[in-house]
Amino acid sequence: MPAKTNNVSNMTTRNAALTGWGTYLPERVVTNAEIEATVDTTDDWIVRRTGIRERRIAATGETTSSMAIEAGKRALDQAGLSVADLQLIIVATTTPDELCPPVSSRVQYGLGATNAAALVVQTACTGFVTALITAYQFINSGAFPNALVIGAETLSRFVDWEDRSTCILFGDGAGAVVLEATDGACGLHGFVMGSDGSGADEIKIPAGGSVEPATVMSVASEQHTIRMNGRAVFKFATRILAMAGQNAVVAAGLTFDAVDWVIPHQANKRIIESAARSMGIPEDRFVVNIEWYGNTSAASVAIALAEALDSGQIQPYDKLLLVAFGAGLTWAAAVVQPEPVTSSHWHERFESVVLSER
Ligand code: UT7
Repeated sequence: MPAKTNNVSNMTTRNAALTGWGTYLPERVVTNAEIEATVDTTDDWIVRRTGIRERRIAATGETTSSMAIEAGKRALDQAGLSVADLQLIIVATTTPDELCPPVSSRVQYGLGATNAAALVVQTACTGFVTALITAYQFINSGAFPNALVIGAETLSRFVDWEDRSTCILFGDGAGAVVLEATDGACGLHGFVMGSDGSGADEIKIPAGGSVEPATVMSVASEQHTIRMNGRAVFKFATRILAMAGQNAVVAAGLTFDAVDWVIPHQANKRIIESAARSMGIPEDRFVVNIEWYGNTSAASVAIALAEALDSGQIQPYDKLLLVAFGAGLTWAAAVVQPEPVTSSHWHERFESVVLSER
């Protein structure tokens, strides 16, 4: 049984490079047309009001941990980091396999990461950004040399498929990144995190916790599914994305002009468009994939980040603003630079991509 002990007096400040990434999306695509057949809605309404065209839904047997493990393996492979050397796993999710044990332990076991500590971050859709900021702290402090950060959700199991105001929005999936200590000039440049519990009832799953344990009545009345005051959340979201983004950029000693890409939580295309207007950043500098996956909560920024890295849309030395909001109400924003400009890891990777494309 490996024990994790860290001698605080030996800690030194290190930067962290983002050396690997991966996603896992269930194969099953559910289009708006399919949802049209089950609730009173239309493809046109969903596209106009949210920007969503389709979402992925987990198959029987696929779980938050199974998707997190797959995305995690891909990120570790990409980084070339042996699972035996992995020291820390943070899983962000709102839809763990079970209330207890922490899903991070299932992920750690499934990966075979016998030397890693593992923990869960539960700040709803804000989760991946919160988890990433947390992982940077552990590496920057010298406490751990590396970390695997995963956002994973199986929201389809917590959706009331008869509630048209929520069932059109959510999807399943996972995204992961690997951070490793480096002396190079990169990493977390600035961040903000916040919480306003006065809005705790605006998005919630009322039953299944200690306030209202699962009963025959709670299940019959669908109280274990997501309830949301969409308009209130929309208002909060449009305000907080720009504010959190601005504060993170200031914390990094930068202005919006210096940000190459914004990777926002993918909740609603109109929220992203509004944030772009408020920030004064052109929409074509926002990474947006909501059309294909809907809102995957804690997985959304992770998937968007990993896909943009994978396609080469994001360059290694770009300055990225990751910004998210969610139930709680919570928010977090971080300015990160994945790798130093001169990183050999990235040069090797991009050379191999260029060669394989010739
Ligand atoms: O990541 C978690 C955070 N969640 C969010 O960020 C969600 C934020 N909120 C939203 O994205 C939007 O509020 C929604 C997409 C949920 C709803 O869009 P909206 O434009 O705010 O609609 P609304 O709630 O103001 O409703 C307008 C109308 C209503 O009908 P009436 O009362 O005007 O007759 C709704 O009943 O649209 C109706 N409606 C629908 N109509 C067709 C609500 N859902 C649907 C639907 N299809 N799926």
